[in-house]
Amino acid sequence: MLVKLLFGTLYGALAVKADAGPYGVGTDPFWVVSHAPLTSVRLDPIVSPAGISGHTHQVVGGSAFGPVYDYAASQQAKCTSANVAIDKSNYWAPQLYRNHPNGTVSLVKLTYANTYYLTRKADGETVVPFPPGFRMLVGDPNRQTYNESDPTNAAISYACLGVSGPETPAFPTQSCPSNLRAQAFFPHCWDGINNWLPNSAHVAFSSEGNYNGGGKCPDSHPKRIMSLFYEWHYEDDFEYEAGARVWATGDTVGYSFHADFTMGWPDGYMQTIFDAGENCAVEFGLNKCPPLASHLQSNGGDCVVDKNWVDEDVVGPLSKLPGNNAEWGGSTPKTSIPNYVETVKLNSPAPTYTDGCSLDSAACSTSVGSSSPPNSATSPSSSTSSISSAPASGVSSISGGSNGSGSSSAASISKPTSSSIGSTSTPSKSSMSKSTNPGGGETLVAVPSSSSSAISKGSCGRKRGMKRRRRRDNGQY
Ligand SMILES: *[C@@H]1O[C@H](CO)[C@@H](O)[C@H](O)[C@H]1NC(C)=O
Ligand SMILES: *[C@@H]1O[C@H](CO)[C@@H](O)[C@H](O)[C@H]1NC(C)=O
Ligand SMILES: *[C@@H]1O[C@H](CO)[C@@H](O)[C@H](O)[C@H]1NC(C)=O
Repeated sequence: MLVKLLFGTLYGALAVKADAGPYGVGTDPFWVVSHAPLTSVRLDPIVSPAGISGHTHQVVGGSAFGPVYDYAASQQAKCTSANVAIDKSNYWAPQLYRNHPNGTVSLVKLTYANTYYLTRKADGETVVPFPPGFRMLVGDPNRQTYNESDPTNAAISYACLGVSGPETPAFPTQSCPSNLRAQAFFPHCWDGINNWLPNSAHVAFSSEGNYNGGGKCPDSHPKRIMSLFYEWHYEDDFEYEAGARVWATGDTVGYSFHADFTMGWPDGYMQTIFDAGENCAVEFGLNKCPPLASHLQSNGGDCVVDKNWVDEDVVGPLSKLPGNNAEWGGSTPKTSIPNYVETVKLNSPAPTYTDGCSLDSAACSTSVGSSSPPNSATSPSSSTSSISSAPASGVSSISGGSNGSGSSSAASISKPTSSSIGSTSTPSKSSMSKSTNPGGGETLVAVPSSSSSAISKGSCGRKRGMKRRRRRDNGQY
């Protein structure tokens, strides 16, 4: 715990001048990319490549988002909904819906999302950049139970903003006047070889400590990567009623929140940020980090997807959730809709991959990783051409999501090899939040001015659609 306290204290000193501590945290970069929403659509290029995904996702980031993820194509995106123009990564999570008393459901607006790029590492570990083609996920769209000792469960949580109370592993039992914040903390140890393995098995949580600590990486996944932490802010100012919130998966309890990431930073750029060290330990103050400062933008909310791949009303009011997603949770088990037939199709054939990670390759290896020394300053990958196709083993486990109930479970991902996971899940958070500099906390997240009429009718009639939003929840991490 001393480590955790030290960590927070050092970061507290950062705003002034950091000393490099024994864990190097004083010089480690730490920044947050903020996003306006990009699209809500039944696509998932990781779990349901080239098809229609089982449930609706809310997607932010690069406009090249589509039915497949191809690093080279991601770099051609016309825009990004991020506040960093060169970050063409995509970040997605399930779409939140609201059950109405008359039996209809409608989409709940994402106000904005934050992605924390955190450095959490053990003594002696060096953080390696995400290679081109890298993708990962955390969480399980089918999870119906909660085990706080399991990092894949503990990594999913909620903060109810605008009221006091602890964070919770399930939906809060009240409405959240200043947004419901759904949170996911990604595994941060990598096998150093694969850009993807079925069930995201190429990444793992630390083998020591908490899911969000900096405990040692397991031998199976020895390479330390940045710790990604998503905060998805959904409008939640409604007259609370149990069961009114429902994820696109059909889950009314909240355990099925999950999150996906596809790497879309320019090849080598993360290393440039790492090399800036403490200058980029800025949390929200991206303008103080030179490699990011030169690429900031405030018009991410104007970004739209380059291509409309699917025609489906996912906004509503709808008679039921899109896809084969009967509602479940509490005493209601997850079931399939009887005789469900998927009728939604892609508007045009999915593109072919250009980077060697073909549609049916479950694992795409890269030249990065095991062969390069962990602290080498070389670019993460010489080029996308170095990515080779790997055997398509296990592909069936990732392709089942294209027709509703078959979505693969990520429950088996990344079990730590040690059982030393503590029961307190967020020891460093409070110290961190106290220590951050509120002056750096203004994010310019442009929220699209047009929003669906179906979702702008808030029950409390509050003003919505602010063009710029000041962070109220500064510095949770
Ligand atoms: C059901 O309620 C929603 C939310 O109030 C409303 O938008 C929708 O029009 C209603 N639908 C019907 C068929 O009454
Ligand atoms: C909870 O998770 C821990 C760590 O993964 C595991 O060892 C334990 O068996 C799980 N408990 C249950 C009841 O599944
Ligand atoms: C769902 O996928 C299975 C296996 O790929 C296939 O046999 C079945 O026809 C699909 N069902 C629908 C409704 O598309």
